[in-house]
Amino acid sequence: MTRILITSALPYINGIKHLGNLAGSMLPADVFARFHRATGAEVLFICATDEHGTPAELAAAAAGQDVRTYCDEQHQLQKDVAAAFGLSFDWFGRSSSLRNRELTQHFAQVLEARGLIEERTDKMVYSIDDRRFLPDRYIEGTCPICAFEKARGDQCDNCGSLLDPVRLINPYSTISGSRNLEVRDTRHLYLLQSKLQDRIRAFIDSHADWPLLTRSIAYKFLDEGLIDRGITRDLHWGVPVAVDGVPRPGFEEKVFYVWFDAPIEYIAATREWADATGGDWARWWRTDQGAGDVRYIEVMGKDNVAFHTVSFPVTLLGSEEPWKTVDMLKSFNWLNWYGGKFSTSQRRGVFMDAALELLPPDAWRWYLTSQAPESSDTAFTWEQFQAVVNKDLADVLGNFVNRILKFTDSKYQSLAPAGGTPGPLETALAERLTLQITELTRALTDLEVRKAAQALRQCWVLGNEYLQEAAPWTAIKTDPDRAAVIVRTALSLVGLYARLSRPFIPFAAATIAAAVGEAERLDQWPEADGTAALLSAFAPGRGVTTPDVLFRKIEDAQIAEWRERFGGSPSDAD
Ligand code: 2FM
Ligand code: ZN
Repeated sequence: MTRILITSALPYINGIKHLGNLAGSMLPADVFARFHRATGAEVLFICATDEHGTPAELAAAAAGQDVRTYCDEQHQLQKDVAAAFGLSFDWFGRSSSLRNRELTQHFAQVLEARGLIEERTDKMVYSIDDRRFLPDRYIEGTCPICAFEKARGDQCDNCGSLLDPVRLINPYSTISGSRNLEVRDTRHLYLLQSKLQDRIRAFIDSHADWPLLTRSIAYKFLDEGLIDRGITRDLHWGVPVAVDGVPRPGFEEKVFYVWFDAPIEYIAATREWADATGGDWARWWRTDQGAGDVRYIEVMGKDNVAFHTVSFPVTLLGSEEPWKTVDMLKSFNWLNWYGGKFSTSQRRGVFMDAALELLPPDAWRWYLTSQAPESSDTAFTWEQFQAVVNKDLADVLGNFVNRILKFTDSKYQSLAPAGGTPGPLETALAERLTLQITELTRALTDLEVRKAAQALRQCWVLGNEYLQEAAPWTAIKTDPDRAAVIVRTALSLVGLYARLSRPFIPFAAATIAAAVGEAERLDQWPEADGTAALLSAFAPGRGVTTPDVLFRKIEDAQIAEWRERFGGSPSDAD
């Protein structure tokens, strides 16, 4: 059986994520996981909170909590909201777990033994007023590459360049705002990425099937030349720099850099899963223990690609141990908020918890997947959100399902009618559907979310067109056998739609399937070439029920209210 390992980029612990985070990592990863499970593959879908580093420290301080308590609370909140969105993780772990500590320390030890880690005396920014070294995120300044004035110490949000804080122009402390900074010596561990330049290039070259976005980012870093990276920080919250519980001399006050331990958590979270369930983690991650058969898919936003095409592979390949590496790295552009950025720190945009106060998860899931920022950045707007939900879900899918179920209820006492045999209209419908299901299956296999959503929408449209043309409400007056065929065909379509739609809108899919007694088959992906048989499979006498309105239309008044509450107007595009 095919085995598929899927990891979504790990959300930072610093608060519930916004829709931009969801759209570019966790949600598409969930669609892929659900699809592959339905095709019968053995899937392991892993995510976790990314808990270390300055973002966590800063957020805990802002919340007036110690960092451990803060992380405990926030992890649970993120886990709950992910479940409410239907994100079907097999495990939602924590990078602050014991397993991650063990593995991170293990990798550091092995990489050092391979000559890929060395101690260097580093020049770090020290804040005289704050009386501490300032880690990357506590420093902002002007980007030396694009002159953006609010570049962070580790990365410029404007041009995407990875930075070193000492390169920033006019730096200041984000703790106190002080510019009273000086550069002091401090010892740090360096990962010698430059030594693996050729190895990483060969690794990327071997994945010619990766999306252009992924490859172009990887080659940009390779062409610039891989730089050795400091993998420790002057911080308390993180994985201690220690071997077998004994701190490394001189490193008692330091921890590993969050970007060193975060991707290792993909493996560690699998170990957490194994500890909790009795599963076998090694068969997913060790190529000497069966993981060679696994197809490993990573899903993330474009800002994470450098870390996953360069840094994490350096860790895995550099260890010379038989670790599974990524087979397909699917990256996304930004979902913007009216052309500007969603922002966690500035609370700009809609966040996952607030979104669910407005509408059920499927409305968001459909919008965010059908409009996924796949080939370019896209902008969330309330108008487009309203249009997409109302048209696709309410007018097309919801209307079709409600119409045929109500008709069956009022004309046949909710029992599928007997009589008749399928004719040319049904044959044509089956042919068209076969094409769309083939395309939907292909697009999902190739991780093309937008194209998959488009094909699914097309399947729904075909049902509406069929019903319109076949017009059972007319046929019932003149040709009851013909009406019976149409109704049974349409009821079959309802069941088919539930299965096809489930990766995208799992909650509605369950309701739809239950209405036509198909709940048990919901987890089986339909074979495209079996469409004709599927359409004629609805047995006469089978009972159906009519659910409440599946998707309520979003009213203009609601949009006005949400705009008031969250902002979002053309002027926010600036
Ligand atoms: O950018 C982010 O949100 C990071 N927390 C992603 C980490 S992905 C993985 F490497 F852990
Ligand atoms: Zn820049």
